[in-house]
Amino acid sequence: MRRKVFSIALKDNVSFLGEQGFCWALTEGEGCDIFRDIHSNIRRKAVWEGKLSKRALGMKGSEIRRLFRLSMQPGVISFAGGLPDPGSFPGEEAASVLSRLLRERGEVLLQYGPARGDEELVEVIRERMGRRGIDVGPREVLVVSGAQQGLDLCAKLFLDPGDVVLVEAPSFIGALGAFRNYQAEMVGVPMEEDGVDLGALERTVEGLLGEGRKPKFFYTIPNFQNPTGTLTSQEKRRGVLELARRYDLLVVEDDAYGELGFGTSDQEVRPIKAMDGEGRVIYLGSFSKIVSPGIRLGWMAGPEELIDRFEMAKQMLDVCPSPLIQAMVVELHRKGFLDEHVLNLREIYRSRRDAMVSSLRRHMPQGVRWTEPLGGFYVWVTIPEGRDALDLFHMAVERKVAFVIGSAFYPDESVRNVFRLSFCHEREEVIEEGIGRLGEATRAFLSG
Ligand SMILES: Cc1ncc(COP(=O)(O)O)c(C=O)c1O
Repeated sequence: MRRKVFSIALKDNVSFLGEQGFCWALTEGEGCDIFRDIHSNIRRKAVWEGKLSKRALGMKGSEIRRLFRLSMQPGVISFAGGLPDPGSFPGEEAASVLSRLLRERGEVLLQYGPARGDEELVEVIRERMGRRGIDVGPREVLVVSGAQQGLDLCAKLFLDPGDVVLVEAPSFIGALGAFRNYQAEMVGVPMEEDGVDLGALERTVEGLLGEGRKPKFFYTIPNFQNPTGTLTSQEKRRGVLELARRYDLLVVEDDAYGELGFGTSDQEVRPIKAMDGEGRVIYLGSFSKIVSPGIRLGWMAGPEELIDRFEMAKQMLDVCPSPLIQAMVVELHRKGFLDEHVLNLREIYRSRRDAMVSSLRRHMPQGVRWTEPLGGFYVWVTIPEGRDALDLFHMAVERKVAFVIGSAFYPDESVRNVFRLSFCHEREEVIEEGIGRLGEATRAFLSG
């Protein structure tokens, strides 16, 4: 009754309140649902609505973002974000390199630069790829604002609405989002312990061809996959390339974590691109995990004429990558700092992986399984069939620990009994405390 009276009183004043933006301001506490209900009823159509493109209408904010907010509440130990360890960022080194570069070459480095990227950085990238078995010419590399931009460019160049893309299931949310934004249809192919299920990949392609729908490309993360941590075996990498040849597919290979193996051999992490003799593989690299994500620097490698097209598209997005930041990375590499830094990062993340895996062994109840990755940032957890990790998420947040629900990593969100834990961001003792809380939540959840 009180609520009704309150509502009526409010309705009389509501257009005034709405105009004053008052309803927006009230978001917490008792009665706010009433404000929100009323506000959404009276909200006038914005002048831009109705003018949006079909593409824009298809872009959706995800459930994950709302859950991320829950995981950021005070006191919550979050294994949700895949944020690199901030303590490892090379702040000191970057500051001294940047101040010298600005003093000595400020006039050039604060100017626009070549759209394709700085030539010296391209040389550094070629050298680093060369060590990993990838031999490409200088015109076969494009510097981009992070591998994420490379994913968007792949979608922009290859995908018309309704086109089919094959993805590992599960796969990186940022890639799924980029492909979805161009109204592609994503078809997931299940992952096994050593990479994608090749039989399923072939059956999926055959099935699609039978329906007259030819997939454009297969998107894969062979090294320490996000979200599962899986290292794809070399046999399977060869198998992927072989299938791609047979069915005339492109392969988009995302190697964001390729340098972060914990004792893996060069051979084990050798990219698919290293075997590509015909320009079928578009390779994406990133400095986000080995320098810092805030510098927004990555690259693409592929056939020269295709890279020319990527360059045209990229130039209209952001003109050029930052000359200053590119020069900084060149210096960090030339001083030998970057190589040393990567060795340190491997140790930091290896130790955190160990802390997470040993805590999971200690605290998780029977019936729960997880991956034990050989590199990268992530552990993938499977709870018994029929249970929903979203329900566990809420119980975990009550106990002040958080993760990302796994369904978000599937194009159709169909698999519910999985979730991702990141071990990259928290120190060992925090990981142990957090996994202790998660074990408690999981035990309560599974016995309930
Ligand atoms: C598999 C994968 N690809 C690409 C990216 C984005 O990388 P960047 O920061 O270079 O855009 C990430 C970031 O988490 C990732 O996990």
